[in-house]
Amino acid sequence: MKSLKVKPPVVLKLGGSVVTFKDRLETPRLDVIRRVALEIAEAKPESLILVHGGGGFGHPHALTHRLMEGFKGGLSQLVGFSETRLAMARLNSLMVEALNRVGIPALGFQTSALVTAREGRISSLNLKPLSGALRLGGVPVIYGDAVIDEVQGFTIVSGDMLSSVLARRFRSPLLALGVDVDGIYTDDPKLNPEAKLIRRIKVGRGLKGVLEGVEGSRSLDVTGGMKHKLLEVKRYVASGGKALIFNALKAGNVARVLKGLEVEGTLLEN
Ligand SMILES: Nc1ncnc2c1ncn2[C@@H]1O[C@H](COP(=O)(O)OP(=O)(O)O)[C@@H](O)[C@H]1O
Ligand SMILES: [Mg+2]
Repeated sequence: MKSLKVKPPVVLKLGGSVVTFKDRLETPRLDVIRRVALEIAEAKPESLILVHGGGGFGHPHALTHRLMEGFKGGLSQLVGFSETRLAMARLNSLMVEALNRVGIPALGFQTSALVTAREGRISSLNLKPLSGALRLGGVPVIYGDAVIDEVQGFTIVSGDMLSSVLARRFRSPLLALGVDVDGIYTDDPKLNPEAKLIRRIKVGRGLKGVLEGVEGSRSLDVTGGMKHKLLEVKRYVASGGKALIFNALKAGNVARVLKGLEVEGTLLEN
């Protein structure tokens, strides 16, 4: 068998706040999904893994059935686990379809089939299907999902956690996280108009000062919003990687990021 070594891919995570209306049940932002697909086609990245969040396809189901707390017993919560996974697979299909339409060989992967967790953290991750897809020149499209947890039955692995782990394991040159705001601010920009964009964060110096201004999410986000994102990204950056949090709702930004051009946002370095 040929080696599975691949050119390190850029990992692009598109938040649920970008690809869905986060506060409406299972409502995709099809115009945004199509535009992002076109931008990826235009940028022609050499090697790319796309990760998407759940937004209105993930968080409402996960909250209703309290999936973050693990399996409490009973059929109804188990059906909720199933429904959440189904909804996420639907969103994944929409993403893959939009990418296919513009000629991108997108390959959807069900996260729950590649990942297990232990007390909420990824404990096993089968990289081979992903590296095989990359070697072919495909673009794996994977997502935050409800997965089996060895201790608590099941849990949620967020797109933020997954993208940080993938970026680390594949030694990515860049982890780019697209959200619905311009980056990390001194305070939640949706609540505080005085909040200032922080353009650079050195995670080696600790995040204490920064974290004071970072809240979860105004929208429903069972995984912990921006604070969780920052903490997950920090793990990857601390291992030597570079990450950028930017606004993926602004037309052109995804293409610019993938072409290595400058984009307004928050750059995180060690
Ligand atoms: N200090 C901050 N800087 C930027 N965004 C923040 C901050 N504190 C809270 N937020 C909120 O975090 C949200 C993005 O996180 P989240 O909703 O989890 O996005 P995603 O759906 O992409 O995971 C923004 O919409 C913003 O309202
Ligand atoms: Mg989130």
